[in-house]
Amino acid sequence: MARLSARQIALAALRRWRKQKRFADASISELLAKTELTSSDRAFALELFYGALRNLTLLDFWIGCLRASGVHTDLRDILRLGLYQLFLLKTAEHAAVHETVELAPKRQRTVINAMLRAATRRRSELLTRANVQPLFVRTSHPQFLVKRWQQHFGAEHAETLCKWNNLPAPVYCRINRLRIARDKFLQLYSSSRPLTGNSDFVEFDVLPTSALRRGHCYIQDPSTIIACQRLSPKPGEKILDACAAPGGKTGYVAQLMENLGMIVACDRDPERLETMKGNLARLDAAIVHILRHSWTNSQLPAEIETLAPFDRILVDAPCSNTGVMRRRVDVRWRLTSADFARMQERQIKIVRAVLPLLKPGGVIVYSTCSLEPEENEEVVRRILKSSTALRLAEEMRSLPFRDGFDGAFAAKIIRIG
Ligand SMILES: C[S@@+](CC[C@H](N)C(=O)[O-])C[C@H]1O[C@@H](n2cnc3c(N)ncnc32)[C@H](O)[C@@H]1O
Repeated sequence: MARLSARQIALAALRRWRKQKRFADASISELLAKTELTSSDRAFALELFYGALRNLTLLDFWIGCLRASGVHTDLRDILRLGLYQLFLLKTAEHAAVHETVELAPKRQRTVINAMLRAATRRRSELLTRANVQPLFVRTSHPQFLVKRWQQHFGAEHAETLCKWNNLPAPVYCRINRLRIARDKFLQLYSSSRPLTGNSDFVEFDVLPTSALRRGHCYIQDPSTIIACQRLSPKPGEKILDACAAPGGKTGYVAQLMENLGMIVACDRDPERLETMKGNLARLDAAIVHILRHSWTNSQLPAEIETLAPFDRILVDAPCSNTGVMRRRVDVRWRLTSADFARMQERQIKIVRAVLPLLKPGGVIVYSTCSLEPEENEEVVRRILKSSTALRLAEEMRSLPFRDGFDGAFAAKIIRIG
């Protein structure tokens, strides 16, 4: 196994993410898997990497203040890590400067050293200048996104949302009652804190590895259950979970059905399906029949056709993920303003493909973890417009700045019998 320091890992991950256009989680977890680190060094590497990603625009603003003539991107990554430690993580100055300079090739150490030392001298000026920058710089979000949130939610909520996206996400878990009763869970895992108003959920300070391994709980934000509750599946029913992987909602639906009946869980992504298999086995969701299928590309498999019609269908659609940006740190850097309309077409295509599989009188729930009307209310409107056999029963949103959980949307639509 390689011996790299936490800072070297964070730097290598930043470069991978930037150059190879990989997902942030994959960029760092592959490196961590190949390196021997103590758990505190591992945590430090993660903190540096995600911290720098969360604050890219602000860090680059400071780099611009320190050197107007521009900086090569490889050096910029090193400076980003250095400034993140100095100004945001509040690492001791000596360690932040010295250890960061060591990351640079020898011939470039003088310039990195000079810039980081200048930053420490100009600390209060640079922090004050940052405070008067526009919101998209202060909170490092794409400008187009901040602008649309200001229009949709108002300036105050947009500011709260951007700041909320930069906070580390709490560890929320859903108690899996298919494996353990709630009281027993709370007794066994005494460090868990029940969430008020949400009896299925608890919060931990650190990842409860043993509880997760034993299938006693599943990492899940409480906002995810609004879709399952709208679906309201009953024991003995036949449910289609159209975009199911990695199985978070499927597991909860199985619990609501008391493991009686059948859930057909589809997804197009083979890797995610593998993860779902493991997750559902751990959770003891025994009524799930897993199938690989893409609703937008391939013909309906005979297997699904034979199982139709379904009592209820859940479409937890692929989306821009703007409601979960504090958990998926790099989402903001992948988004473009054209994505929302593009996603809408894909979402509608998926819903149209599953609708004929719903029995008359049945319920379809369309859900996303997006905050954008194009992917939520507008999809629902277009679907309703295209068929007189559908009736909107309920729409519900979770808004981080109002509800304190991830953003989510769910619409319950009934096929008129
Ligand atoms: C929001 S995620 C689902 C999360 C899942 N319901 C859960 O609770 O764990 C959306 C899923 O849709 C899948 N997907 C995207 N396009 C699809 C398509 N055309 N057909 C089937 N699945 C698709 C993705 O692979 C992804 O796993």
